[in-house]
Amino acid sequence: MSLIKLVSSFTVLLCMTISCHSARKSENVSLSRIKNQLNLLSVNFKDAKAQTIDSGKDFVSVRSLNSDGSLKIVPSKDWCSGFYAGSLWLASDLTGDAGLQKLAREFTLPLENEKFNGVTHDMGFKMMSSFGQGYRLTKDSVYRDILIQSAKTLTTRFNEKIGAIRSWDHNQDKWQYPVIIDNMMNLELLFWASKQTGDQLYYNIAVKHAETTLANHFRADNSSFHVVDYDTLTGAVIKKNTHQGFSDSSAWSRGQAWGLYGYSMCYRETGIVSFLYQAEKIADFILNHPNLPADKIPYWDFDAPATPSRPRDVSAAAITASALYELARFVPQKKEFYIQNADQILRSLNNEYSSKSGENKGFLLGHSTGSFPHNSEIDVPINYADYYYLEALLRQVNFKKRNQ
Ligand code: GLY
Repeated sequence: MSLIKLVSSFTVLLCMTISCHSARKSENVSLSRIKNQLNLLSVNFKDAKAQTIDSGKDFVSVRSLNSDGSLKIVPSKDWCSGFYAGSLWLASDLTGDAGLQKLAREFTLPLENEKFNGVTHDMGFKMMSSFGQGYRLTKDSVYRDILIQSAKTLTTRFNEKIGAIRSWDHNQDKWQYPVIIDNMMNLELLFWASKQTGDQLYYNIAVKHAETTLANHFRADNSSFHVVDYDTLTGAVIKKNTHQGFSDSSAWSRGQAWGLYGYSMCYRETGIVSFLYQAEKIADFILNHPNLPADKIPYWDFDAPATPSRPRDVSAAAITASALYELARFVPQKKEFYIQNADQILRSLNNEYSSKSGENKGFLLGHSTGSFPHNSEIDVPINYADYYYLEALLRQVNFKKRNQ
């Protein structure tokens, strides 16, 4: 589809949205606001980076706001280092703006060294959001080579006996072989590499990881544990914990969203129906949960105590919306339900959770929660919320086009 067509269909869609749901005057997605905010972020990044010249660190991206309101910038090894570049790629796709694409290139390339970073599972987060989106839009062979090396590095974290990719190397006194639900997101890089190279190994590792996670991460109500720890000698599960949720037995909101997105994507890539059923079950858990607020933006944990100051997690909502547009393609009998919910999430994000022009240093959305138990990034803008919001907007446009 040409960009012009895409942008014009997006405009039509916005007009439709406005006329259907115009109870609120501000019911609008402004592509120029998105463009201006993302440009503002790049200016603020350059200012913030200039102040760190003596720190010895090579900062490459924006991540969030610090508690004093200043911009939090990160080096390439940070798990969030790719999302701002990714937002620029997605926004360039939505708007057709060449300046955004130029900026996207600028913020993508400094991540290249991560292709050799084998000490974390976060490879998919970092590289698919940046180089992956860049390759989708430009077919630049340099990006392709970097992605293939990244996938290769990620496979070194797979343990045959356990049948999963190790998530973290930290907290070795607590966990022997931690695998977190978030890790489902990194599998997309392996599926991509398998298709690009014809090497089945990437595919097999991704499928095995998804099967192992399906067997051990989910509870009877289809919510998921955050961390499952495995014994490296026997492959058996040692324990099930949380790291960022309210308690070991609670449903951490972003974890549920990662699971939903992860299994929808795994079904798209494999056609394995148990992955589709799991995605449907997770969607049911989230969308029918009694603690999901009417605006469909979850609190940071579905089981968090109902205090007046309980923060939301906009990032979980954005990931959920993006996943629902995907899942709706595969489940005709629930399509309407998924789309209504995804549309409602986007309406809430557009109307109630978006930064006003010039606000939040340029981030698009406020009110995400990174890690409540660590008192870190509570009720603030975070770059992955913006990234999945933009992806959801793009998927909404494409979905409506296909279903006109
Ligand atoms: N993958 C880390 C997080 O979701 O916070």
